[in-house]
Amino acid sequence: YKIETFSHNLLDWFHNNKRSMPWRETNDPYKIWLSEVMLQQTQVVTVKGYYNRFIERFPTMTSLVAADEDEVLKYWEGLGYYSRVRNFQAGVREVQEQYGGVVPKDGDAFLSLKGVGPYTRGAVMSIAYNLKYPAVDGNVYRVFSRLDDDATDIAKSTARKHFEAKVMAVMPDAAGDFNEALMELGATVCTPKNPICMLCPVQDHCEAFAEGTVLQRPVKVKK
Ligand code: ADE
Repeated sequence: YKIETFSHNLLDWFHNNKRSMPWRETNDPYKIWLSEVMLQQTQVVTVKGYYNRFIERFPTMTSLVAADEDEVLKYWEGLGYYSRVRNFQAGVREVQEQYGGVVPKDGDAFLSLKGVGPYTRGAVMSIAYNLKYPAVDGNVYRVFSRLDDDATDIAKSTARKHFEAKVMAVMPDAAGDFNEALMELGATVCTPKNPICMLCPVQDHCEAFAEGTVLQRPVKVKK
């Protein structure tokens, strides 16, 4: 099948089925960045409340940079992985000091900021600025390993580049929606244990579905 039908089917499904989330109501790169940092180790339902409280208290990068780290940490209490929020505040401070308070619209510059790795770069650059970068999280490993019936061990350090290349090979112009749609598909339909293949908008493109290997993908070898 043509890749145009793949991305079209996925984007169409996303448009009609996406869950409502507060960070989906904004184009502000600061807010999208915050949401992606919170979502890295925490589920959507939990993040919603933390995100709303955080943004109410620190609505702008200026307000966050001006705040004491101790106060910022209070708004993170319960989310865990507290280095995330320290790095986030430090990264935002770098934006204020080095980029005139504007989140750089450049993947290499953004990647160089404190706490920003390839996933955060891809998510923020694509969702806020519609730049074509892959945003490979656990959902995306699962979706692509099934689509291509790909037995690559996702615990290997080389897996990220392998799956990033797969995403880029089918990346449409709507980069941000596409990355979010892949995550949404993985979170709601192409789930680890009880995938709902009957409702999948790209079932026709799924080799693991055709082969009956859906539950064996992705392969993750314990270390
Ligand atoms: N998980 C990580 N980023 C997400 C996003 N933008 N939407 C939904 N789930 C996500």
